[in-house]
Amino acid sequence: MKKLVSLLLVLVFAFLCVGCGNAAAQTTPTPVPASEKPAPAETQLPAQEPETTTEHEMEEPINEEESGSTSLVVYFSATGTTRGVAEKIASLTGADLVEIIPAQPYTDEDLNYNDRTTRATVEQNTPDVRPEIANEISLDGYTTVYLGYPIWWGQAPRIMSTFSESHDFTGITLIPFCTSGSSDIGQSDDTLAARAGSGNWLQGRRFAGNVPIDELREWINETGEINMEKTLRLFINDTEVPVDWEENESVEALVHLVAAEPVTVQMSMYGGFEQVGSLETSLPRNDVQTVTQAGDIVLYSGNQIVVFYGSNSWAYTRLGRITDVSAEELTDLLSNGDVAITLSWE
Ligand SMILES: Cc1cc2nc3c(=O)[nH]c(=O)nc-3n(C[C@H](O)[C@H](O)[C@H](O)COP(=O)(O)O)c2cc1C
Repeated sequence: MKKLVSLLLVLVFAFLCVGCGNAAAQTTPTPVPASEKPAPAETQLPAQEPETTTEHEMEEPINEEESGSTSLVVYFSATGTTRGVAEKIASLTGADLVEIIPAQPYTDEDLNYNDRTTRATVEQNTPDVRPEIANEISLDGYTTVYLGYPIWWGQAPRIMSTFSESHDFTGITLIPFCTSGSSDIGQSDDTLAARAGSGNWLQGRRFAGNVPIDELREWINETGEINMEKTLRLFINDTEVPVDWEENESVEALVHLVAAEPVTVQMSMYGGFEQVGSLETSLPRNDVQTVTQAGDIVLYSGNQIVVFYGSNSWAYTRLGRITDVSAEELTDLLSNGDVAITLSWE
């Protein structure tokens, strides 16, 4: 049955492609608006002559365009169409942008789906093949990853499996998107999620190469945004305490971090005035010299959360303040040994 479905898919696609000389000719790469985060020029695939990756390029620092954003657009694009959409998403969201660069670039001949013996088609017919990725992609500090790719024979290119299997997506929300001649995203997003085995994978979406910016904006608002009807809740051991959270990018990143599932942080008593514990990921920081008071919740050094039952003076990023809990109650909750705090978005 599966074979019959595949055969039908191939026939439909082959029919759609009659008259197309090659994949590059099938879709016209979208003119990309001037982006603050352009894809590296060396990743543009040439029509005939495959480029080689030089030693220097291999040693380039990863995610060169890092801006402190907690969102990242990661994409693979053989002929530029997905790149155009990825750049638009990055410019709409302010996300960083990084391309998955194949160690062995795909030539026009590799992408010629009219010849069933060429590389891309052979790879798609070989589920276990994992094309090597030339660049190292770091997901450190990102809580949302938009993941883009073209559809090849109804599926994500095998190099996307290489990517999915080589990262730990714990604490990250993944939002797949694809471009294609006409096929929908199908099961390709679910397959990548299954291969990854970690992360909060949202349902993906297919876009035409010339997708209007408004359509992308609407989709980003639907999927990329957190459901604001929920609230960020804080529990000290099993006791929930009300918090007046700051409106800043650190708290926003914290919400993304715990949106998929609650995060528990093991804290340690320190200095007779605070409980401190490490988050697995760093949050954006904007440290300011602060004299804290009992009930203050701050970020220290980007990745440590501190809850005060006394006072201290240091450079912190404010996250919030426990309200409606008396000083005695706070001392009782926080000064009787190490605690665990749990943050959830409910
Ligand atoms: C090997 C190969 C197989 C493809 N299979 C499909 C397909 O099954 N359905 C479809 O609609 N488009 C298919 N396409 C077209 C691409 O999905 C489409 O051109 C895509 O936008 C290219 O993105 P890119 O420029 O980012 O590589 C295929 C292209 C290639 C090269």
